[in-house]
Amino acid sequence: MKKVISGIAVVAMLCLVGSVSRADDTANGEKTFKAKCAACHGPDAAGKPAMKSPSIKGKTAEDIQKAISTSPKHASLKSLTADQVNELAAYLATLK
Ligand code: HEC
Repeated sequence: MKKVISGIAVVAMLCLVGSVSRADDTANGEKTFKAKCAACHGPDAAGKPAMKSPSIKGKTAEDIQKAISTSPKHASLKSLTADQVNELAAYLATLK
């Protein structure tokens, strides 16, 4: 019985750790977005017609990586790490 209970406790802890790190990703992504993307894509990622920048709400890490490596508009963003791109995607996924 004790084993079952400690097993449950371990599972519960893992769930907790998982959700905390996901929340961290989103928070870091939001910081990076505000610092590096909001000027062109708007404070809520809805895009800015005046800058001809589209909405990037819900864009995946793959979309972001592609946009960064192909668009001359993103020349200043080539230094973003894969982690930062994943965090950005986690944040953009929260905007709908
Ligand atoms: C200097 C202005 C500027 C900045 C800064 C900028 N973008 Fe963009 N972005 C654009 C413009 C303009 C386009 C559309 C034209 C193009 O792709 O060249 C675009 C397109 C995109 C696209 C493709 C959207 C689509 O529907 O095809 C993604 C994804 C994207 N940006 C993500 C980002 C992210 C993430 C950041 C911050 C790390 C960022 N951008 C920072 C101007 C900018």
